Amino acid sequence: MVNPSYSSNLVNMKFIFKTMIFSLSILLTLPSTSFSLYQNPINLVKTITFASDSFEIGPGKITSRTFMDIEFPKGHVGVKSFDAELVDEEGNSIPSYETYLHHWFAIKYNQNITMSHNSKLIRPQDFIYQRNQGTCNGYILPHYWGFGVESRGTTSNIPDPFVIEAGNPAKVHNGYEEKWLLNLLVIDIRGAEDKKGCTQCRCDLINLPKDFYNVTKDIHNQTLTATNYKGGLFCCGDNLQCKLREDFQGPIRKVSLRYKISWVDWNEYQVPVRVYILDSTDKVKSNGSQIIHDCQAEYTIEPNGGGDSPHVQKANIPMEKGGYLIYGTAHMHSGVVNATLYGQDGRILCTSTPKYGTGKEAGNEEGYLTGMSVCYPQPGSVKIKDGEMLTVESRYENEFRTGVMGHFYIYLAENIPERY
Ligand SMILES: *[C@@H]1O[C@H](CO)[C@@H](O)[C@H](O)[C@H]1NC(C)=O
Ligand SMILES: *[C@@H]1O[C@H](CO)[C@@H](O)[C@H](O)[C@H]1NC(C)=O
Ligand SMILES: *[C@@H]1O[C@H](CO)[C@@H](O)[C@H](O)[C@H]1NC(C)=O
Ligand SMILES: *[C@@H]1O[C@H](CO)[C@@H](O)[C@H](O)[C@H]1NC(C)=O
Ligand SMILES: *[C@@H]1O[C@H](CO)[C@@H](O)[C@H](O)[C@H]1NC(C)=O
Repeated sequence: MVNPSYSSNLVNMKFIFKTMIFSLSILLTLPSTSFSLYQNPINLVKTITFASDSFEIGPGKITSRTFMDIEFPKGHVGVKSFDAELVDEEGNSIPSYETYLHHWFAIKYNQNITMSHNSKLIRPQDFIYQRNQGTCNGYILPHYWGFGVESRGTTSNIPDPFVIEAGNPAKVHNGYEEKWLLNLLVIDIRGAEDKKGCTQCRCDLINLPKDFYNVTKDIHNQTLTATNYKGGLFCCGDNLQCKLREDFQGPIRKVSLRYKISWVDWNEYQVPVRVYILDSTDKVKSNGSQIIHDCQAEYTIEPNGGGDSPHVQKANIPMEKGGYLIYGTAHMHSGVVNATLYGQDGRILCTSTPKYGTGKEAGNEEGYLTGMSVCYPQPGSVKIKDGEMLTVESRYENEFRTGVMGHFYIYLAENIPERY
């Protein structure tokens, strides 16, 4: 059994199960409401900014939190965008060199409407996760929206008439209601001995419990050892501490995730897209009759003695169902060169390139990844065929890095309305 305090809930939803059962939380809401009108009168876009519960962090502290039943637009809606950033108690944006947002994920689930109020009587089947359309196995990368340090400079917005459908009563299990949870991992790197290593969850820079390597199992239930696991999500357990510079003192602060959602109420003119997160570590296999995905979610780039060409991590991923590409981007970490998605014939479907900061202010922190570019092909112009084999390549500068990611996000539409 994985010890929940050491494991990452990115890869281990058991932890979320437990968190869910013991802390059903209620969120703060509605700092602002605004309405805007697109040219098309049938698309009244509403925008609300929400904030998660706040939590305390101090220098060097690693914090993982799951907030259940977050504020989300009510009813049957088409979501146009969902963007997020870390803010302090006064609502100011926090720069990444102080508190590093490793990731935030918005995950859909159904909850039993009449489940017991007594947490001891709540059963796992009272929660049913509704993952995105793939293509990872099990509970790996199940979210609909979510990025990391690049959040401020990466838009999730999709063009009309496309939307991510939510709250469709026909798609909710009988006796259940649809809800959303937020899962976050933040690392307060104020005073850290090695800020960059700490953001990469480098195990030897973190004060791990003494028995860490005896009790921690990886996503394949194998014991981690100090020689085979140098860094990554398992070393970034909740409440662990990055080693600090001697004598560093800094105040505890309260932070929360501020998130802004834009949506339209559902109508027949909305065209839903399917959401996929393709992982460049997916070791796709087949057992003869079925494709078996094996996503690792993260990987390590070993020190190679300073080669100049980027390190390439690559996966060939068959798409059971195709569609028209509406949106594409990648969730990557600092050091990324670019990430590219290819079709089976080698054509480039989308390349996402990084933006690095050059200043001091939040969203432009020097040396930090501050955004990834987004592809918006002319709707209808890029088609992925049913059964087509896609290739995802993520490229990083070739030097020792732990816990790096190469996740390609694509939204596909089944058809394009004629007027587009
Ligand atoms: C919801 O939970 C209650 C209490 O445990 C149970 O009686 C009911 O059957 C559950 N509903 C569904 C749809 O499973
Ligand atoms: C943990 O592993 C170390 C070696 O890696 C070993 O010396 C120690 O006895 C183990 N502790 C327990 C409680 O198994
Ligand atoms: C993981 O491995 C241990 C033995 O090392 C076993 O007891 C346990 O059942 C396994 N868990 C899973 C989920 O396979
Ligand atoms: C392949 O895997 C699927 C899903 O695990 C299983 O249902 C099926 O029986 C397997 N087929 C073979 C030939 O092993
Ligand atoms: C991505 O990076 C590779 C390696 O540096 C480069 O050859 C390629 O041109 C880049 N692609 C784009 C679209 O920038």
